[in-house]
Amino acid sequence: MAFTDLGMDNQWLSFTPNRSFQNDPRIFVAADGMHFTTHDGRQVLDGISSLWCVGAGHNRRPIVDAIKAQLDTLDYATAFHASNDQAFQAAAMVAALAPGDLNKVLFCNSGSEAADTSLKVALAYHRARGEGHRNVFIGRERAYHGVGFGGMSVGGIPANRKAFGASLLPRVDHLRFIHDPVHHAYIHNEEPVWADDPLLELETRLLPLHDPSNVAAIIVEPVAGSAGWYIPPKGYLERLRDICDKHGILLIFDEVITGFGRLGTPFAADFYGVVPDMLNFAKGVTNGVIPLGGVVCREHLYSAVMAAHSGAPEHAIEFFHGYTYSGHPVACAAAIATLNLYAQDDLFARAGGMGRVLGDAVHGTLTGLPTVNGLRSFGLAAAVELAPVPGLPGKRAYDVFMTCFHNGVLVRPAGDNVVVCPPFIVEKSQIDQIVTTLAAAIRQHA
Ligand SMILES: Cc1ncc(COP(=O)(O)O)c(C=O)c1O
Repeated sequence: MAFTDLGMDNQWLSFTPNRSFQNDPRIFVAADGMHFTTHDGRQVLDGISSLWCVGAGHNRRPIVDAIKAQLDTLDYATAFHASNDQAFQAAAMVAALAPGDLNKVLFCNSGSEAADTSLKVALAYHRARGEGHRNVFIGRERAYHGVGFGGMSVGGIPANRKAFGASLLPRVDHLRFIHDPVHHAYIHNEEPVWADDPLLELETRLLPLHDPSNVAAIIVEPVAGSAGWYIPPKGYLERLRDICDKHGILLIFDEVITGFGRLGTPFAADFYGVVPDMLNFAKGVTNGVIPLGGVVCREHLYSAVMAAHSGAPEHAIEFFHGYTYSGHPVACAAAIATLNLYAQDDLFARAGGMGRVLGDAVHGTLTGLPTVNGLRSFGLAAAVELAPVPGLPGKRAYDVFMTCFHNGVLVRPAGDNVVVCPPFIVEKSQIDQIVTTLAAAIRQHA
């Protein structure tokens, strides 16, 4: 099938250079295991788990069959003033997997909705406790929390914010970014140890500026994903937890990327041994097969909101928030099958093991190549930082991505980084294929 047969007049593509795409389209028509089939019949290795989603690989029968069976049983049911059996079961499984007393799951459909949901829970929680003045949010430079106005406001990728300035939330500040290109340009599956304290600024500048008593929540990605896989300094998240506790500030981990195995543990919270007050998830919860996201809240958030309504009549709604498709039965059936499959095939442990293979391959093959300014491997993901083409930020990584695609491997450009994060089922030979394809493309565009 030639791409011209598809008719490309009507779809406005997301986060994609539409003009370039029209000239050289990437169109997938089928997928199985580690591979896509393109419209022109080529096989392309999915080196990015289709945007961090498909940990178990494509077209996994248990998930597909669960969806089909659910469609034949309960296709949809309203989420307001009622629910469905699949949603309760999926919530119980997510809560059982999440650490500590992260037990109350609010479902939504995406990571962006999870971000906005968690910020709204923070406001509702503080108000319920008589601290409605706590309305400052703190995010971090170069963070990504999706494209809703809340998530965009606490997010810190300049291009995502540039056109929307006046509509961003007003009471938001940002932590400094967590990358030290001088001392930690190369990270090989280790936690970088910083000489200076990256959170000093929070304690000595940001919190005094806003007054800690006004701060509702701090939201971070434990490992910064979308910006290009940036690993926090050793001890950073523990110290962030301590600072939040000291000042009564809620800590939100956005685990849309790190959740469900990417670091070799169920969540980054497990990897770092830090329990946030809320944990946002999406993507991997259904193996990406069908949209589902959510926020897992610690018990005390839920009980505070309920307690505030103890005097209200029983028919009164306690939290005015939700989506038509919150806890959609088909999505939740997919989540149940996905979480069972992860457990049955021990895929989180496999991700941890293959992460070391990926780290060794990336550092062994790409170190010293022309234009490579840094390499960061951690968990089952790695980023190659390339020298930008003067005056054309992002072009080199985009060119490398296109060349890799034409040579049968899907990687991801993120600014001047190229990121790889294959499914957990990846084999060593496929890691070698990804890395050698990447090396050739880097050389070609140096
Ligand atoms: C950490 C993080 N939060 C939120 C999102 C937004 O998720 P979605 O695209 O499902 O809205 C993403 C997407 O990549 C993400 O990486």
